[in-house]
Amino acid sequence: MSTPPSPSSEPQTPWFASTVVYQVYPRSFADSDGDGVGDLPGITSRLDHLADLGVGVVWLSPVYASPQDDNGYDISDYRAVDPSFGTLADMDALIAAAHERGIKVVMDLVVNHTSDEHPWFVESTASKDSPKRDWYVWRPPREGFSAGDPGAEPTNWRSAFSGSTWQLDERTGEYYLHLFSRKQPDLNWENPEVRAAVADMMRWWLDRGVDGFRMDVINFISKRYDADGSLPDGAPWPDGGLWGDGGPFFMTGPRLHEYLAELRREVFAGREGQFLTVGEMPGITVEAAVELTDAGTGVLDMVFQFEHVNLDHGPGGKWDPQPFSLLDLKASFGRWQAGMAERGWNSLYWDNHDQPRIVSRWGDDGRWWRESATALATLLHLHRGTPYVYQGEEIGMTNLPFAAPEDYSDIEAVNHYRQAVAAGADPQALVASMARLTRDNARSGMQWDGGPNGGFTTGEPWYRVNPNASWLNVEAQRDDPASVLSHHKALIALRRDEPCVAAGDFTMLAATHPHVYAYRRATAATELLVLVAVSGEEQPLAAVAAAVAADLGDDAAAWDGAELVLGNWHDEVRSGLAPLRPWEARVLRRPATA
Ligand code: NOJ
Repeated sequence: MSTPPSPSSEPQTPWFASTVVYQVYPRSFADSDGDGVGDLPGITSRLDHLADLGVGVVWLSPVYASPQDDNGYDISDYRAVDPSFGTLADMDALIAAAHERGIKVVMDLVVNHTSDEHPWFVESTASKDSPKRDWYVWRPPREGFSAGDPGAEPTNWRSAFSGSTWQLDERTGEYYLHLFSRKQPDLNWENPEVRAAVADMMRWWLDRGVDGFRMDVINFISKRYDADGSLPDGAPWPDGGLWGDGGPFFMTGPRLHEYLAELRREVFAGREGQFLTVGEMPGITVEAAVELTDAGTGVLDMVFQFEHVNLDHGPGGKWDPQPFSLLDLKASFGRWQAGMAERGWNSLYWDNHDQPRIVSRWGDDGRWWRESATALATLLHLHRGTPYVYQGEEIGMTNLPFAAPEDYSDIEAVNHYRQAVAAGADPQALVASMARLTRDNARSGMQWDGGPNGGFTTGEPWYRVNPNASWLNVEAQRDDPASVLSHHKALIALRRDEPCVAAGDFTMLAATHPHVYAYRRATAATELLVLVAVSGEEQPLAAVAAAVAADLGDDAAAWDGAELVLGNWHDEVRSGLAPLRPWEARVLRRPATA
């Protein structure tokens, strides 16, 4: 959040422009005690891997006390570590060990909702007069209905995890709102006591040494209430059924900026140091993201937008997958790069704990596994913004095989399966179709070596380890200069060492070429040309060369002598604008011409 003085004549950029963030999903990263669940000492024991990779920040998915209904995104005590992950002392040790290696630690902050087992919620349900009643969103049954009647829910909104967003509390006869599972009641951010309690908890973690927060669905905290406090029904979902889309009434609501400004002021004002805040924001537009992340008037350092990862979702959402289109990806990334060229800051990501593995999703996890994993990494990392690497992405981990309903573990997938089968869907067809985009793909054990369970645990893993861990693992790649891991190291080093990656302007090239993704980055001193074949076929470069000439008013031949900074084909190295082989990525550098 603070910008150090610029060391050179390059344009000023924030400190997080030249670093990469690594996300750890603690349950699945490294298990130190053999109980099958990853833990904090396990993470600490693997920090050298992160240091070797060169990342500057590690973000931990939630490790707080939790009933684990949604793997820790349901928190019952914000100031305690869940026993399955360790203790507060383990957390202190992890922070110290990370800092010794120059790595910052960012916590997940899940405050749109708590667990229903959080003492605040337990007190809130006790009676309508409870002092904590107004800390959550309670509403009576729909007018004309009695509590529990079908259709009595206060709105028709469908939860992210299937079914209604409202749960009846039998004791008080009212419904509480839960945009996610019924064990994740939404906090009422209209109540200043809630906001003060959240700020206090954040200060407590910063005092403990953490360096910032990744804020879970933070653009859902301000609901769009009617003047009388009611919430409207949403338009019916295109896939029919009872449910409507409540999104317009809870995404990026009227008081979001105000609440986040308050947090920034109450939590960070006057603190020395460099902190990172990133808001997860489904449905956020470029225009809103610019306002939220403006270096002067904004309230966050960057947001996670969802446009690109939703490109292969159909009208029915993620369970209605559609083919990938490179042209759509170019249009989307191009708009975000252009929209944030002057103000605001991008985050750049393919994988996280909610997304399938990119090499299986839009690459080729068969014949061109290594090439496509490195090509897609190159495509992403050299944009303007801060890249995020999700555990295992740095070695090209792939999606899992799914053969039976029991292979699914995640609440989102399990609930969808149950509801769809109840509604008449064919179970075997569902098992097959859910495989592509289920979050379970991201949650298999980290593949450290070719031993049992990929070296993730010596016990029985809480969830499956991908059978390909026998050959696809960190150890097998560590000393191989052509590996996916070495390529990630090179990309991260390039961002750190080449000011043009952090600070350069972005120009999309060959925007209509269906198989080559090409762009230029430029500062007053340097130009980089990034060329990536997004295809298993060799790509003649005529079209791209023409685009370079047309888009830049440039002589394409001028790139012939440019320095090859990085490539992912290691035999018969090609440079300049030579044809691109399948999934070839090439990064060229030359002094700026203008
Ligand atoms: C977004 C998180 O990334 C996801 O894993 C979680 O299920 C929901 N928010 C609810 O907290």
